[in-house]
Amino acid sequence: MRALGIETSCDETGVAIYDSERGLVADALHSQVTMHAPYGGVVPELASRDHVRRLVPLVADVLGRAGCALAGLDLIAYTRGPGLAGALLVGASFASGLATALGKPAIGVHHLEGHLLSPLLGDPAPRFPFVALLVSGGHTQLFEVAGVGRYRLLGETLDDAAGEAFDKTAKLLGLGYPGGPALAALAETGHARTIRLPRPMIDSGDLDFSFSGLKTAVALAVREAAGSFEPGALDDAARADLARAFEDAAVDVLAAKAMAALDATGRTTLVVAGGVGANRRLRERLFEDAARRGARVHFPPPRFCTDNGAMIALAGALRAGDASTDRRFSVEARWELASLREPAAATAA
Ligand code: KG4
Ligand code: ZN
Repeated sequence: MRALGIETSCDETGVAIYDSERGLVADALHSQVTMHAPYGGVVPELASRDHVRRLVPLVADVLGRAGCALAGLDLIAYTRGPGLAGALLVGASFASGLATALGKPAIGVHHLEGHLLSPLLGDPAPRFPFVALLVSGGHTQLFEVAGVGRYRLLGETLDDAAGEAFDKTAKLLGLGYPGGPALAALAETGHARTIRLPRPMIDSGDLDFSFSGLKTAVALAVREAAGSFEPGALDDAARADLARAFEDAAVDVLAAKAMAALDATGRTTLVVAGGVGANRRLRERLFEDAARRGARVHFPPPRFCTDNGAMIALAGALRAGDASTDRRFSVEARWELASLREPAAATAA
C-alpha cells in the first residue's frame, strides 16, 4: 500500500511516499524560512500562498524519484490539523482534489500523531508500548502510547511550549526566526554554569511543565548584565553564556520529566518527537539518562524531527482503515491528540 503524505500545517511544505512493504520511498521538503525571516515570524497568509505554489512541483518531484505514477498511489494523506487554518486548507483541498481525480481514498492526519509516530521511520524502530515526549513549537506533552491511536496524556506544559520558549528566548537575545536552531548554535559557544537559571516545576511531583518563567528569567538576566532589555547591549560572550544557561535549564527539566514518566508508567522505551527533538544537547542528555536506568530512547532521523511529509505519509498508511472516499473535508486549527481513537482495521489495498 502506497500512501502520499502532504504536510502544510505551518511554514514547511512536505511531501513523501510511504510504502507499507518497503518503508519510506521518497520525500521532499520546501522550507519557507527565508520568506518569513524579514517579518521575524510566520505570516499565515504568505504561508498559505506559498504552499499553493510548492505543492504541484514537490509532488511531481517525489513521484519522479520514487519511479511511481500517480495511478500507483493507493491513498492520499494530508495534515488535517492542528495548525494554521489557511495553510491546512491548502493541503486538505489539494489532497481531496487529487484523491477525487484518482478515485482513491483520502485521510486527514493529526499533525502531532505524525510527529509521535515519526520515530517509526528510524532504524531500529521503537516497539509499542512506549512513553513519548512531544516537543514542538506549539506543544510540550508526555504521552503513554500503547499503540496507534492509544494515547494517554501524562503531562503537558501549563504555558509556553518548549519550542516556543526557545524561539522567544532567541528573540530576547537578538537572534532571528527561526529561533530554536539559532539559540542552540549560539549556546554551543557559551560556557556552562556562568549563569544559573531556574528549573521551573522540576520538583512539582507531577509530569507537567512550565517554560514562561524561564524566558522571563532570561529577560531579567539580560537587564541585569546590560542595564537594559536591549540584547545589543550585551557582548557576544555574555549572550552565548545566557543561551547556554537557557538550553541547560530547558534540557534539565525535559529530561527529568521524561525520566519521571518512565518511572510512573514502568515503561522502558522513550520516544522523542517534534522540532526540539533536533536539539543535540537534549538528545545526548536523554540517551545518557535513559541508559543509566536501562531504558532505550528513539528519535526520528534528525531531518524528520521538524515538520515533514514523511511522518504524514507514515501516519496515513498506519490509519489506512480510516481512509474515506467521501469527498467532504475539514481542517482543525485546534485538535487534541488524546481525542484520537484506534484506527479501524484496514481493508487490503
Ligand atoms: O515540530 P516543529 O517543526 O513544528 C511544530 O509543529 O511546531 O517544531 C518547531 C520548533 C520551533 O519552536 C523551533 O525553534 C524548534 O522546534 N527547534 C529547535 C531546534 N530545531 C527546531 N529547538 C531547539 N533546538 C533545535 N536544534
Ligand atoms: Zn510540527
